[in-house]
Amino acid sequence: MVALYIILSVLAVYLIFFFIFAIMNVSHIMGRDPAARNPVEIFLLYSGIHAVANHRIAHFFYKIKLYFIARMISQISRFFTGIEIHPGATIGKGLFIDHGMGIVIGETAIVGDNCTLYQNVTLGGTGKDKGKRHPTLGNNVMVGSGAKVLGPFTVGDNSKIAANAVVLSEVPENSTCVGVPARVVRINNKKVGADLDQIHIPDPVSQELCKMYIKIEELTKKIEKLEEEKNETV
Ligand SMILES: CC(C)(COP(=O)(O)OP(=O)(O)OC[C@H]1O[C@@H](n2cnc3c(N)ncnc32)[C@H](O)[C@@H]1OP(=O)(O)O)[C@@H](O)C(=O)NCCC(=O)NCCS
Repeated sequence: MVALYIILSVLAVYLIFFFIFAIMNVSHIMGRDPAARNPVEIFLLYSGIHAVANHRIAHFFYKIKLYFIARMISQISRFFTGIEIHPGATIGKGLFIDHGMGIVIGETAIVGDNCTLYQNVTLGGTGKDKGKRHPTLGNNVMVGSGAKVLGPFTVGDNSKIAANAVVLSEVPENSTCVGVPARVVRINNKKVGADLDQIHIPDPVSQELCKMYIKIEELTKKIEKLEEEKNETV
């Protein structure tokens, strides 16, 4: 009976903190998700909200070195939300995880304030680094669905990582990064390398054909000259 009371008390305390952390995040999401209808719906149905609230509690246990409890909360949360945030990760205010499924955030990752992560994002390591091996996202960073950000570098404030990009190196502030491996294509909304015309470039095949045509003409003239000389001698 005593054990039951203890378990219920622990659960009640957990739920109180869970509610507090979840409610703190709801207002941040209201303005950022056009599909969000009302705060109650976000609070009850958004798995991103639940994952972040669970993470705040897990992170507390991680900080006081109760690693097993921290990891257990993280894994239970992963089971219910499909979002795996390592309890060691540092998450800023107002993180919006949209859809959520398949997200992995590594132990030494740092996420700034008001960031947005879509489904299947990985903030991971390359396997080559020790210690700090996961990325640091600045404030207001958006990471598109399926994008992988791998390594201990920084993604600058207000930057956007395109869906399915694989980012392997530092990203400056206010930039847009696309592709595999990702490259910066916009900084401050201006095209990077806009003066390099990648469309109107010479066609290498037609250039080679031109060279061959000129060579054939030269050879034809030489043959004609040789035939003339031969005819004269005969
Ligand atoms: C990258 C993104 C944020 C747009 O950022 P932006 O700064 O407005 O950039 P633009 O739309 O002007 O695109 C810049 C260039 O990158 C290209 N691009 C955009 N998204 C891309 C992607 N996911 N993969 C490859 N290239 C992409 C554009 O075609 C454009 O190419 P160009 O320079 O040859 O014209 C957006 O395309 C994106 O990927 N958002 C992810 C959203 C998401 O995951 N939603 C899921 C909801 S469920």
